Amino acid sequence: MIEFDEAAARAVEAMYLTPDVVGQRARVIEMLSPRPGERILDIGVGPGLLAHDLARMVGDTGRVVGLDAAPAMLKMARTRLAALPQAECVEGDAARLDFADASFDAVVSTQVYEYVAPIARALSELHRVLKPGGRAVILDTDWRSIVWHSSDEARMGRVLSCWDGHLADPHLPATLGPSLRRAGFTVARVEIVPMFSAHWQPVSYAGGIMRSIRSYVQANGAKVGLGGDEVQAWYDDQLRLAERGEFFFSVNRYAFVATR
Ligand SMILES: C[S@@+](CC[C@H](N)C(=O)[O-])C[C@H]1O[C@@H](n2cnc3c(N)ncnc32)[C@H](O)[C@@H]1O
Repeated sequence: MIEFDEAAARAVEAMYLTPDVVGQRARVIEMLSPRPGERILDIGVGPGLLAHDLARMVGDTGRVVGLDAAPAMLKMARTRLAALPQAECVEGDAARLDFADASFDAVVSTQVYEYVAPIARALSELHRVLKPGGRAVILDTDWRSIVWHSSDEARMGRVLSCWDGHLADPHLPATLGPSLRRAGFTVARVEIVPMFSAHWQPVSYAGGIMRSIRSYVQANGAKVGLGGDEVQAWYDDQLRLAERGEFFFSVNRYAFVATR
């Protein structure tokens, strides 16, 4: 799986400041509907961009707790949230939450559960810490939904199959509804949030994920017979397609609104 060290933290932050992911955050906030005075938990707080918006919305009578397993991510989130006393960040694991039962009005987790192997346990923990009637919004990618034009489809397939290994479950959304129901939730709504570039834009989710995939597959491709030259050729092909106006990228994230 991927290691969320300082370099990864900077890459995630840059990608999550692109218009695609800014738009995603706006939709997640609309689905969560935070209200002043509420206690909200952000599981896998990452760079703290969502927690920052939530902290401003719950105001100084509310509380936002950002939890993350990676010290580099926590450092970045704490810096971002430093001026907001209603926000705090804690180190922890999504599968073992160190909070009392029914201690949050709402919980949000975007692009995190796909990294968590004991998913049933993580969802049961999420259910436990929510107040009865509380809301959860969970968003993850299903990498099977990808449509990405390439001059060499077979090589694209090998690169993406290696990239699947950066997650515990690259197809989590397809089974998340039943998993949430088994954990005791009612699933109220599921929506697609596409990351979509019909033409090349360097400052976009597609541009950022291309760089992340290149570095992950360069480090891990040997195990599946992918050499560094082949990975670079895959990357250069995308830049050539971009120059010719033939770049096309689309992948879906799926947002689940559930209630306890
Ligand atoms: C792709 S980032 C998403 C960050 C943030 N939720 C966002 O959407 O901006 C994934 C985050 O999940 C965290 N993470 C992964 N597995 C975790 C676990 N088991 N418990 C807590 N955090 C975890 C990583 O450290 C990283 O910060």
